[in-house]
Amino acid sequence: MNIQQALKKAATELNLFNIPSASLDAEVLLLEALNRNVVRNDNEKLDKNWLYAHNNHKLTEKEEELFNNFIDQRKKHKPVAYIINRKEFFGYEFYVNENVLIPRPETELIVEEVLKIITGVNSLEHKNYSLIDIGTGSGCILISILNELRKNKKNDLIKQSIAIDISKKAIEIATINAKRYSLENNIKFINKDFKKELDQKLFSSSNHFVITANLPYITDNNYEKLDKNVKDYEPKIALTSGTQGLDDIKNMLYLISKISIKINQKIYLLIEADPDQINVIKEYLKKHFKDTKIAIINDLSGKKRLVIVSLFT
Ligand SMILES: C[S@@+](CC[C@H](N)C(=O)[O-])C[C@H]1O[C@@H](n2cnc3c(N)ncnc32)[C@H](O)[C@@H]1O
Repeated sequence: MNIQQALKKAATELNLFNIPSASLDAEVLLLEALNRNVVRNDNEKLDKNWLYAHNNHKLTEKEEELFNNFIDQRKKHKPVAYIINRKEFFGYEFYVNENVLIPRPETELIVEEVLKIITGVNSLEHKNYSLIDIGTGSGCILISILNELRKNKKNDLIKQSIAIDISKKAIEIATINAKRYSLENNIKFINKDFKKELDQKLFSSSNHFVITANLPYITDNNYEKLDKNVKDYEPKIALTSGTQGLDDIKNMLYLISKISIKINQKIYLLIEADPDQINVIKEYLKKHFKDTKIAIINDLSGKKRLVIVSLFT
């Protein structure tokens, strides 16, 4: 079978199994099958254009077997990122498997806004930030922030970085990703429920804290209606948070409100949520926090997605 035939066959099969992005997925999975098995000495990166320029290239038996295996997994609605074990986020590649949420493009907003706070005009003082990533999953948020700061030679603005996740397997994957970018010694990984970890002790080490939280926020009801590729494969603990989808976010805010009255540190808090939850979160903040500045940031589709809270005690 050559490339053209393989792509056509796979796209037809995926369409039959109601995979919405059948042709694109077939291309990505074929590139993966070829990349892994062809010994390439020209360092040429295989891409979509390469595929179409080599329509008649014959697949080896091994390549065909691997490709068929990938397509069979995709037919069962397994997300492509879990089949190829990686996902790009903020221009960086992250190892992922079914133990962590696949990083979503809208979450890149958190990284952008944190970088603005730490390096931009919004910054109060350019030093001594502690970063705490709650529900780190693959580590994509924290690792992207640290990568960007290092790229711009601003990593000395960070005093310490902490990644918390209740899932042991997620922490293992975040550690793999940190190692990949030589950041394993820059991040303290904590495998705990954030409710047990968010206390005054955590806030004793520096003056400025930036807390990022992409915690689960899907309601129990909506969880049942999720697409097969999410519901059957992504970890439930990364997705749901009670009847309103707000249990984790509210618990976190409550704990931070208690801590913030006892300490004298400046805290920026960046919370991703569903557009329908943003106003509820805003009301909750007004009720539980004094002297806060709240900003709402829209995602690329114009939906309210991120709440930034500035707490200056
Ligand atoms: C929506 S995922 C986000 C993962 C990653 N930050 C991202 O943006 O792709 C939420 C993460 O929170 C973790 N989590 C859920 N409940 C938690 C808790 N009580 N304490 C700490 N982590 C929790 C899950 O294991 C999961 O990795």
